[in-house]
Amino acid sequence: MKTSKNIIALNCNLRLIDFILKGVAMENANFKMKTSTLKPPFAWIGGKSKMAKAIVERMPLHTTYAEVFGGSLAVLYAKERLGTKYNEVINDTNLDLINLHRIIQTRPQSLQLELNRMLNGRDLFLDSKVKIPRNNIEKAALYYYSIVHSFGGKGDNYAMMKKARSPKNIYKGFQVYAQRLRPVSIENLDFRDFIKQYDSEGTLFYLDPPYVGTENYYKNKKTFDLKDHKDLCEILKNIKGKFLLSYNDCELIRNLYKNFTIEILETHYRINMKAQGVKREELLVRNY
Ligand SMILES: C[S@@+](CC[C@H](N)C(=O)[O-])C[C@H]1O[C@@H](n2cnc3c(N)ncnc32)[C@H](O)[C@@H]1O
Repeated sequence: MKTSKNIIALNCNLRLIDFILKGVAMENANFKMKTSTLKPPFAWIGGKSKMAKAIVERMPLHTTYAEVFGGSLAVLYAKERLGTKYNEVINDTNLDLINLHRIIQTRPQSLQLELNRMLNGRDLFLDSKVKIPRNNIEKAALYYYSIVHSFGGKGDNYAMMKKARSPKNIYKGFQVYAQRLRPVSIENLDFRDFIKQYDSEGTLFYLDPPYVGTENYYKNKKTFDLKDHKDLCEILKNIKGKFLLSYNDCELIRNLYKNFTIEILETHYRINMKAQGVKREELLVRNY
């Protein structure tokens, strides 16, 4: 008697689980992440502004959004928050960049005031590289200044375009970014530690690592290398959460990720202001 009651209870539980799983599958199938038109306040090498909408539209349902290689945060800015009980965390190993995001998040007006105090010219650009800042706001302002005045956001060569020369074009208001970043946690970790810390069944990792062959474009203490590309792949093979990964189309990456879904995204980009659009293919790898 007791056994048949147990069997009935077990059957009911199985049907309930089946019902829940079907419900979750339906919800996932119908899910579409909402996009936003907000663009980052500065350009960044390898920045995803042009592709951000396509990337966001491919995101599955999740409860925690974790962006591992944040850069200018083009992808975070291109997506809307999923309600209030939703976690968002961004990361980058570049401390100057992370300080800038933190100041935009917490002191947008002070940053603007600091920038407005600065003169708009080549001397200041050179100065910004040697000056020792008084505090993190000045540090963020100098760093921001060096990015917006350099070619492609690299922060090394001075390259002001005529259109951007007026201060009002450079020092745009940071309030809208501060508002978007308010609920977002900001980390400054190596990708290995970051992924370990934020992995969970509900996590979606978006990853945009330095591309194969362009690793030395980023001025970090340690340049991304082959071991890093391989470590990243090993870690992603074993996570509990989901991942969506951008990469350049090359043999190394196709080989490393051969057991995952790989989609080709075609994009047009301009090498310089006069050049025609050039077609480039990017990979989007995912485990869902
Ligand atoms: C391709 S960029 C990301 C661009 C970003 N998606 C955007 O739209 O601006 C790669 C970023 O990875 C960061 N990075 C390099 N090595 C890293 C590491 N070991 N851990 C975390 N971030 C790293 C770089 O500082 C750089 O900002």
